[in-house]
Amino acid sequence: VAAPAADAAVIEWVRAAVERDGVGVLVVDDLRADDLPVLEWSGSRLHLESVAQNLARVPEHADYLCVRASVGGAAVAKGGVDYEEHPGGGTIWQVAVHPELQGLGLGSFLIAACEERIRRRGLPTAWIGVEDGNDGALRLYERLGYSPSGRWSSSWAALNESGQEYVHEAGGIDLSKAL
Ligand SMILES: CC(C)(COP(=O)(O)OP(=O)(O)OC[C@H]1O[C@@H](n2cnc3c(N)ncnc32)[C@H](O)[C@@H]1OP(=O)(O)O)[C@@H](O)C(=O)NCCC(=O)NCCS
Repeated sequence: VAAPAADAAVIEWVRAAVERDGVGVLVVDDLRADDLPVLEWSGSRLHLESVAQNLARVPEHADYLCVRASVGGAAVAKGGVDYEEHPGGGTIWQVAVHPELQGLGLGSFLIAACEERIRRRGLPTAWIGVEDGNDGALRLYERLGYSPSGRWSSSWAALNESGQEYVHEAGGIDLSKAL
């Protein structure tokens, strides 16, 4: 059975329900391979290929979670935890909230669920990286208790505005939090 998409009706329902009753009305779940075709709101085709590769690393080297509108419903936020990047800790990454549902608390809800997964593995530290210039995300992570702990740099394949592939050279701040 194909996973349901976050269509306009789902988006409107989530917004109204969260504004009325809070993010607790939504469901945290493991992301599944059949969610991938309806996650196009989270990034380019290359991003989705990377998500698919990381899903294959679950459960040994990673967890991959999503927030669904309801049990078995459409994924409206997603993010993973990598257990190889910082040995002895979990690194939360690839976090994305549906563009029409940002600023409602879904990102904070998902990050709390990721931290719970890290804790359940008996690991004491959560890490999260933020790219230079993503000041909104940095402010959010600091508010959630993360402190700058160094810098990272990396590169990955990305698509430019005309759909051509290029190597994106990125750098930013690594933040950590004792759980
Ligand atoms: C960053 C992101 C995951 C946060 O999730 P969210 O559900 O929007 O965040 P919450 O509602 O839990 O928290 C709101 C806070 O997030 C931050 N924020 C970052 N980007 C934001 C956005 N596009 N819209 C609203 N808030 C954003 C702000 O600090 C905001 O606090 P403020 O209202 O005091 O300014 C989400 O906005 C997103 O997917 N952005 C695009 C992709 C991205 O930047 N991912 C993070 C990579 S490190």
